Amino acid sequence: MKKNQLAEGIYSVGAVDWDVRDFHGYSTYKGTTYNAFLIIDEKITLVDTVKYSQKEQLLYNISQIIDPKKIDYLVVNHVELDHSGCIPDIIDLINPEKVICSPMGEKALLAHFHQEDWPFEIVKSGAEISLGARTLQFIETRMLHWPDSMFSYLKEDGILFSSDAFGQHLASTSCFDDQLPLGDIMNESAKYYANILYLFSPLIQKLLKSLAELNLDIKMIAPDHGVIWRTHKDKIIKAYDKWSKGEDSKKALIIYDTMWHSTEKMAQAIARGIEAENIPAELINLKVNHRSDVMTKILESRAVILGSPTLNNGILPRIGSFLIYMKGLKPTGKLGAAFGSFGWSGEAVGILNSMMEEMKIDLIGDGLRLKYIPTEENIAECFEYGRTLGKAINEKTEN
Ligand code: FEO
Repeated sequence: MKKNQLAEGIYSVGAVDWDVRDFHGYSTYKGTTYNAFLIIDEKITLVDTVKYSQKEQLLYNISQIIDPKKIDYLVVNHVELDHSGCIPDIIDLINPEKVICSPMGEKALLAHFHQEDWPFEIVKSGAEISLGARTLQFIETRMLHWPDSMFSYLKEDGILFSSDAFGQHLASTSCFDDQLPLGDIMNESAKYYANILYLFSPLIQKLLKSLAELNLDIKMIAPDHGVIWRTHKDKIIKAYDKWSKGEDSKKALIIYDTMWHSTEKMAQAIARGIEAENIPAELINLKVNHRSDVMTKILESRAVILGSPTLNNGILPRIGSFLIYMKGLKPTGKLGAAFGSFGWSGEAVGILNSMMEEMKIDLIGDGLRLKYIPTEENIAECFEYGRTLGKAINEKTEN
């Protein structure tokens, strides 16, 4: 079997992007892949394409198996440009008999590329198309990640082409989940979930239930980013179930920025107080932690304690920017509190509280403000405040 072969006649032919480091605000330190899949049957079928800049890799990989012009059907599971950027060039080259997409997929393709004369074949949930010996079944997955998104399930081989779902931004020439350390794959899967899919958690819960009801005999899950799940597919489904239910650990994140180290000293003392109540507390200085890594930690932590000094009657810009990013991802079921030093006006704690209330974070108390540089007594006060937070976290949670 070739190294990129999923089963007899089914190949991964997408592209590895070793260089990408930013995915609209998500820091992709490990690059990514844009996966596409070729099915050799009576109707030769390409499932998804790649980002425009990676078109040559896609065509090269296909040409190692067949002449790309022999492709009959193009399946578009998702129209975001990392998967569709080269579609116009691919359609010009292969002149497909069908461009298969969801109803919303057609709308999105037209709004992106304005080509009314493409041979659209619109498929709704449950529709099937025969490729010859094999059958593709389609499942619309609206908002995972866009309204147009769908899964394609290759029935005879039990392969679920899952588009963005179950993916990871992880560049590698290894195609499968048993060819890289599982811890690395799961970490990148959690980061991907926290930064791309978190806000769709209620829909993901519904999707997991409806997938179970379909009773598909899934042997492999082939997402459009990262490795294909063939050995550990149950682990990623279980993780999606846990993340989408909002199950986290009794742990506190103390996320702060600091001007002249006073808020930092407060953060350290508060952490010691929380730890004194037997709750792990992690200090996260936003000067040295990327927002997307912090979101990954929030996914799995119960309490979010925010700290900022007051600057110009407001909060420090780094924490403001982080909170705008966090708000969009809609984490649920978190406990929160605020703290910070100030000189004269001292609005930061109130602003942090308001922002957390907007995110429906359950606030513990009104927060702690200290003037200028904390004294020893002030540090003791921060420690006690940490203990108070720790006690409240223990009271409000069971595990
Ligand atoms: Fe990988 Fe929503 O695109």
